[in-house]
Amino acid sequence: MTSCTSSNTPVSPDFREFLAGMPKAELHLHLRGAMPPGFFSYLLEKYPPKLVLGDVPKRFLDIFNRYDNIRPFLKSPTAVPIQTLFKYCSFDQFLATYLFTSYFFRTAADFRNLIKAVRSELTSQNIVYAEITVSLIEYLNQGITMEELTLALDETADEPGVEVMWIADLVRNTGPLKTLETLDRLLACCPRRLVGITLGGNEHQFPPAQFESLYARAREEGLHLSVHAGEALGPLSVWDALEILKVERVGHGIRAVEDPTLITHLAEHKIPLEICPTSNIQTQVCRDYESHPLPSLHAAGVPISLNTDDPTFFHTTLVDECLHACTMGIDESDIVAILAGGFQHAFIPKDRKAIFLQQLKNYCGQHNFSN
Ligand code: ADE
Ligand code: ZN
Repeated sequence: MTSCTSSNTPVSPDFREFLAGMPKAELHLHLRGAMPPGFFSYLLEKYPPKLVLGDVPKRFLDIFNRYDNIRPFLKSPTAVPIQTLFKYCSFDQFLATYLFTSYFFRTAADFRNLIKAVRSELTSQNIVYAEITVSLIEYLNQGITMEELTLALDETADEPGVEVMWIADLVRNTGPLKTLETLDRLLACCPRRLVGITLGGNEHQFPPAQFESLYARAREEGLHLSVHAGEALGPLSVWDALEILKVERVGHGIRAVEDPTLITHLAEHKIPLEICPTSNIQTQVCRDYESHPLPSLHAAGVPISLNTDDPTFFHTTLVDECLHACTMGIDESDIVAILAGGFQHAFIPKDRKAIFLQQLKNYCGQHNFSN
């Protein structure tokens, strides 16, 4: 098998194919962020813009109007190529686009069909295990009830194909009180495969330290804890995530690279980062793949999983992320080791992880790949 140990070395087609067939895991994947583009086109056609926009609060309409990727979709959504929407010049523009798409999910059936479409896409990519992040409040705000949402989470999760666990994104932009209320409402319905919580959204306005009570409550309930930190904000937000929220994993966390003491802490305490390189570049958190901190963090012994975050919004797949990591100078056996991290750092029992890891080992053996 061809090696790709230095940057700019072309990746061999064999390695791409090897990765495509490999059993893989995603630990940082937002449900709506993974919707097939055709599925969203269908919703754009299904719902007249007047109906949808009638529900958007004025302050959000003003924000949507500010961005030239969203503006055309406010007038005649079906007249614009769908890919026009998925282009951003800033993290805030991405977040606005992400929120914009939520208004097109108007019934429990839309939500259920979204899960089915995402499951089918993941299965086709040989993703055998996924922890999928769901921002429930965005669907509750659309009038879908918590009972309908949890029923859809429960009923779709046992279908054949990718094994799914749910992570509730309590959406930091709704503020500490509302996130606690959303968690309580969720716990009252208790979806079977709920394994943890995270907070997505605007880190600048709502840094981790504000959510201490939320995380204490989730911990009491036995949920696993992750949070988006060290993405838009610097290393201090990662320290706060660890020391105040007591998270077990960090979503992104790449700006930890700015603080050598933090890097050592993450490595020594074996705290995994859920790394999503293309997301970081497209939201302008990182300049380019060449300067992405993934290789430094990996070389320093920080546990890592590789993920796509919002593959439809960032035009990527997990195999693409591996190939980008390859061109960052990470060699093939380390790519496979990082992919194994997707199982090792999952929020599931050890014996379940061992089964997935054995599946990965068998696959490598069948392809004469040793690492
Ligand atoms: N919601 C969806 N993707 C996100 C990201 N990368 N950061 C924060 N919130 C998000
Ligand atoms: Zn994310």
